[in-house]
Amino acid sequence: MNTEQLSQKVFSRPWFHRIDLGGGIVTPGVDNSPSKLQHIHLPEDLTGKSVLDIGAYDGFFSFEAERRGARRVVATDQYCWKLTGMGDGEGFKIAHDALGSRVEAKLIPVEEISPETVGVFDVVLFLGVLYHAPDPLRYLRAARWRFWRRISTPWITADRRWFSTLGQR
Ligand SMILES: C[S@@+](CC[C@H](N)C(=O)[O-])C[C@H]1O[C@@H](n2cnc3c(N)ncnc32)[C@H](O)[C@@H]1O
Repeated sequence: MNTEQLSQKVFSRPWFHRIDLGGGIVTPGVDNSPSKLQHIHLPEDLTGKSVLDIGAYDGFFSFEAERRGARRVVATDQYCWKLTGMGDGEGFKIAHDALGSRVEAKLIPVEEISPETVGVFDVVLFLGVLYHAPDPLRYLRAARWRFWRRISTPWITADRRWFSTLGQR
């Protein structure tokens, strides 16, 4: 696909994330995704690490983890990969193709995430998901699997309200 074809694909649909696809094309997301990076303390170098991105949506954070050298990235989602419009999951696929990404996509609800269903990871990104939870403790239990490996990489858990709070400091 050439730049013009990619541009046509990108700009003919709505996006949540702003992802730099190269060649001057940045997905026109409603969310200022890059600005959040300064708040989540994602290590600059993720070489050799495995990363789970729960609620990945268009995949901004999954692709960023891959860009930072993660050995394996698994992006999971459910609602926003099987609705319509911005939540049809096509955004993730378009960005994935355009970036030549190796991020693995898994359609699975948070409630079903466990070592058996997705594996065990060094870093778990659980961003902007908790406030959707009818049962937040259940969601946190699903995201806690990172601890099974017990290595000293950060476990990152945050939601949009947390970002807003940080932004005001
Ligand atoms: C506001 S978006 C956050 C996207 C991204 N993580 C970020 O921080 O920019 C919330 C995402 O969580 C997903 N999500 C919410 N509840 C979920 C559930 N129970 N199972 C799977 N995905 C869920 C939505 O589909 C959506 O993609």
